[in-house]
Amino acid sequence: MSAGADVRVEGAVRTFCSPDGVPVEVLRGVSLHVTAGESLAVTGPSGSGKTTLLQLIGAMDRPDRGEVRVNGRELGGLDEQARAQFRNREVGFVFQAHHLLPQLTALENVLVPAWGSAPQAERHERAVQLLKRVGLSERMTHFPGQLSGGERQRVAVARALVMTPCLVLADEPTGALDQTAARALIDLLLELNAEEKATLIVVTHAEACAQRMERRVALANGLLE
Ligand SMILES: Nc1ncnc2c1ncn2[C@@H]1O[C@H](COP(=O)(O)OP(=O)(O)OP(=O)(O)O)[C@@H](O)[C@H]1O
Ligand SMILES: [Mg+2]
Repeated sequence: MSAGADVRVEGAVRTFCSPDGVPVEVLRGVSLHVTAGESLAVTGPSGSGKTTLLQLIGAMDRPDRGEVRVNGRELGGLDEQARAQFRNREVGFVFQAHHLLPQLTALENVLVPAWGSAPQAERHERAVQLLKRVGLSERMTHFPGQLSGGERQRVAVARALVMTPCLVLADEPTGALDQTAARALIDLLLELNAEEKATLIVVTHAEACAQRMERRVALANGLLE
């Protein structure tokens, strides 16, 4: 996938039900347009709905009201199979918790999204290259339990990029990293954003990371400031 994704969120409302039955309005009508190839930082206090917003854009969740359009397609109008295909082929999601499979090596984890998709040799080569670029060429056969927290996070970044997504959604990707590793990881995301024209949306608390994106928005009280 080369050209990036144009993302349009229109009036997204997302309300959760708390365990004691009280509705929690997390997003109260969020609208956002991210153009193809753009890099955007999303900031906001803990609990302000950043992960929730990213999950709507990545078709991992649906808004209660409002729309999410990616390259003109309304995600709510897609059936589950089409949504799964969209997540696998077009979106690279770096989760806040890395979710690596403990029984697979670093390299095998990176290749999970490529299961069943051809051509395997090319994917394998890209997985190796990505692990090198995140500084893990010496850790490819390690299992997650044998990696540090920051190394696991870097494997998760490589996994998100293995399918050459047109949309990269990264939720606190530098949370577990020291300054140098964090800078290197943001370098990699921005390089791919430039080289492959992937749209990049990064949720971050780190000022140094937010500053490097072309644009930033902040969530507060269920709305974008
Ligand atoms: N499935 C759920 N059921 C009930 N409440 C939820 C659910 N998911 C999220 N919430 C609530 O929605 C709010 C926003 O959560 P979200 O994870 O989007 O915040 P965030 O901005 O990513 O915070 P952080 O910076 O701590 O990761 C939180 O108060 C959370 O408790
Ligand atoms: Mg979050």
